[in-house]
Amino acid sequence: MKTAIFYMSKHGCVEKAVFLLKEYLKNDEVEIINLKKDKIKDPESYDKIILGGSIHAGMIQRKIKTFYFRHLNVLLKKKLGLFLCCMEEGEKAKKQFDKVFPAKLRTHAKTTGLFGGEFIFGKMKPIEKFIIKKIAKTDKDISKFKKEEVKLFAKKFA
Ligand SMILES: Cc1cc2nc3c(=O)[nH]c(=O)nc-3n(C[C@H](O)[C@H](O)[C@H](O)COP(=O)(O)O)c2cc1C
Repeated sequence: MKTAIFYMSKHGCVEKAVFLLKEYLKNDEVEIINLKKDKIKDPESYDKIILGGSIHAGMIQRKIKTFYFRHLNVLLKKKLGLFLCCMEEGEKAKKQFDKVFPAKLRTHAKTTGLFGGEFIFGKMKPIEKFIIKKIAKTDKDISKFKKEEVKLFAKKFA
């Protein structure tokens, strides 16, 4: 089975999840496509597709949206997984997930995941540091990354 993971990551949390997914999906032939840097391959040529991004100021990366709108009909024919990295948890995280992925995709997806998030101040721009310090009231790195959720996602998706 050919699987493609299309993703966007600002400071590396989504990317970490993507490489873990590849490791956990070891029985599949997995290709990783970074929507920011890589040539965007046609999703039609894969059997299974995973799409993941992260939340910044309540929104997912624009290129993730462009990708799913452009390829909506293809994605709706494939075995699909959707995931998100964000710092909000529980209902708030779920609300963000529902806001950034269209209902058609969410209901079609075989597997969905909320993998938590990280604040890594060393990777933030000054403006981001300023915002996060104000909102999270800390200037210390925090990780709420949920490796177990990534594992569970891979198990369900495989
Ligand atoms: C400037 C900034 C704004 C953020 N806004 C939100 C937000 O609105 N909601 C949320 O749940 N997480 C928010 N986050 C947390 C990110 O989703 C989290 O850092 C995630 O790990 C980012 O993944 P990435 O580095 O792979 O892009 C924000 C982070 C930054 C740096």
